[in-house]
Amino acid sequence: MAGIKFFKEDNLPLEMHKVRIVQKLNLLPIEKRLEAIKEAGNNTFLLRNSDVYLDMLTDSGTNAMSDRQLGAMMVADDSYAGSATYYRLEEAVRKFCGKQYMLPAHQGRACEHILAKTLVKPGDVVPMNYHFTTTKTHINLCGGRVEELFTEEAVKLVSDHPFKGNMDIQKLIALIEEVGAEHVPFVRLEMGTNLIGGQPISLANIKEVSSVCKKYGILLMIDASLITDNLYFNKTREEECKDMSIAEIALAICNCADIIYFSARKLGSAKGGAIVVDDKNLYDQMKVLIPIYEGFLTYGGMSTREMEAVAIGLEEAVDMDMISHGPEFIKEFGRLLSSYNVPIVTPTGGLGIHLNAREIVGHIPGEQYQAAALAAAIYIVSGARGMERGTLSEEKNPDGSEHIAACELVRLALPRRVFTLSQIRFVADRIAWLYENRHLIGGLRFVEEPEVMRFFIGRLEPIGNWQEELVKKFKEDFGESL
Ligand code: F0G
Repeated sequence: MAGIKFFKEDNLPLEMHKVRIVQKLNLLPIEKRLEAIKEAGNNTFLLRNSDVYLDMLTDSGTNAMSDRQLGAMMVADDSYAGSATYYRLEEAVRKFCGKQYMLPAHQGRACEHILAKTLVKPGDVVPMNYHFTTTKTHINLCGGRVEELFTEEAVKLVSDHPFKGNMDIQKLIALIEEVGAEHVPFVRLEMGTNLIGGQPISLANIKEVSSVCKKYGILLMIDASLITDNLYFNKTREEECKDMSIAEIALAICNCADIIYFSARKLGSAKGGAIVVDDKNLYDQMKVLIPIYEGFLTYGGMSTREMEAVAIGLEEAVDMDMISHGPEFIKEFGRLLSSYNVPIVTPTGGLGIHLNAREIVGHIPGEQYQAAALAAAIYIVSGARGMERGTLSEEKNPDGSEHIAACELVRLALPRRVFTLSQIRFVADRIAWLYENRHLIGGLRFVEEPEVMRFFIGRLEPIGNWQEELVKKFKEDFGESL
């Protein structure tokens, strides 16, 4: 919790919760970890979680739930149609974002599917502050294309800019003028911009984008999946928000947009998703797709238990004690890594810590997936699994060549309220060792390469025997296998 002072300690992040349920963890010896990553095709998505010590793959569906959420799950009304649970969720969503009409969906990308199908025509252009993998894919599948209008600051990995997620307003106006407003079905702003390091957008920037959209008669869509981190940063970094409550900032942000959607695997700390609008016509257009792709209108693919948990999760999303844990522990993780000189994205954002793989393993060619190689190496030396967020997560160029990502990152997510400070210190310590031995890390090449979103299920192998060399050096230095 921000602002609690210590006497001798250097302002540690402090939990405003206690842990009442625990899950036993397993740290395999390094030889077993090497075997496990080989079996997983060097893709951390394909590891079995029983082989993972600290699962830092994602915060999606992995945030710790509160006692209130678990309690609420017990009173879920399981009816297929018109369940009381649905109406409780609808009310909670209305209260959080101030919009009238909600459509439920089974997760965030399902919302993106419905939205793209309804709004995107072939040849359309969708401006964004930055793309997200699933969002971009749905827009492309509908024949549209994404234009990322980030500011120069966004891709400067080392920066002290408080709002690297901001959209460049001049680029937005220029793009609309160039392609014509009729070819821009909506502008999308992603809160807590995932792929550039969980970086926030300022309320001031959201207001500016909103006024440009209004001027040209274009819908503004907000992806609120990572809004809790964004809200934390609005409150702590933006003068205009200093005296506002978190609930007020959330409403001020949502008021700027015509469409809000979110993954309740993140916002709401449970499972599910929703689209929220004020325009009844738009709601009616999308409504017909829910029973086809998701489920009946009063559950949309979610279990009623999860819906109850999301409703409470949304109440807790405006409680500073609940939402500060992520950004503050991430900041401490970043402070530790920086003290070991490990290059990370700064300022630290939400979601997780982001390592600058291009700098750490710059000796590996970009086409050999620097970030994926580093993620595999981190698993081998620590048992922690992170996620590649770089070239492997990009689609290839139309001519079949690699599209080298603007940012080549490894993300170590901190699911909210899950890990302790000692676990974070352990991972930072292992990464410090790896950094000193980074010359041992080599590249990867595909052995099975899917056509789209290859990062999810693609399989790779190391080029040469660098992984065995890494294990050998580890055992020499640590004198054992753990
Ligand atoms: N939007 C953002 C900003 C996301 O981060 C995600 C998911 C989605 C949409 C899609 O939501 O997973 O419920 O379908 N991000 C996850 C991650 C996968 O690990 O960052 P979903």
